[in-house]
Amino acid sequence: MAGRFISFEGIDGAGKSTHIESLTARLKAAGASVLNTREPGGTPLAETLRELFLHQPMDSLTELLLVFAGRRDHLQTLIEPALAAGQTVLCDRFTDASFAYQGHGRGMDLAVLSTLEQWVQGTRQPDLTLWFDLPAEMAAQRRAAARQADRFEAQDLVFFERVRAGYAARAAAAPERFARIDASLTVAEVAAQINAVMESRGW
Ligand code: TYD
Repeated sequence: MAGRFISFEGIDGAGKSTHIESLTARLKAAGASVLNTREPGGTPLAETLRELFLHQPMDSLTELLLVFAGRRDHLQTLIEPALAAGQTVLCDRFTDASFAYQGHGRGMDLAVLSTLEQWVQGTRQPDLTLWFDLPAEMAAQRRAAARQADRFEAQDLVFFERVRAGYAARAAAAPERFARIDASLTVAEVAAQINAVMESRGW
């Protein structure tokens, strides 16, 4: 049986990482074979591109092409084989992030993004996308407490509100795939929302 593909999305500082860890533990305890991966990155080639993507100055089209180049390698060499082998793939960010950050954040043409999406993925989409949603200002406070900023995290609140709106647009366009998680709540409350989503799907 083909495995399930679950992606995790949200603006920087939404708190995805904690919940990816706990969901991984829960699925493994239930007997699933879980592959944890991330974008940008996930394969040696795509991790090399990730370093450039996060830290080198570049124009927005270069940025967009790099992230889709990495995605192609990631899908072909890691994600598709894992799904074919029946694994549950948990991916920290996927193509919705390109629509949110490069499309809505940077203002890249959404039609070009859709063409790239189709070229690189064919019909492949996550079976479920957990979207950690919270106001940009709250996310900025969490980031300030947690870590040093990369190229994206150094952007201002206005940028992150555009990214957030980008996620909202993607969610509205694919409501059966997206589950919005209110990430402004406590860790326990967020975990309960995720568990409820999984249970509602019988997963
Ligand atoms: P992430 O791995 O969440 O960062 P961290 O390791 O600091 O938690 O994501 C890296 C950054 O890349 C994040 O700011 C979002 C950005 N990004 C894009 O701009 N476009 C994309 O397609 C993807 C996948 C990520």
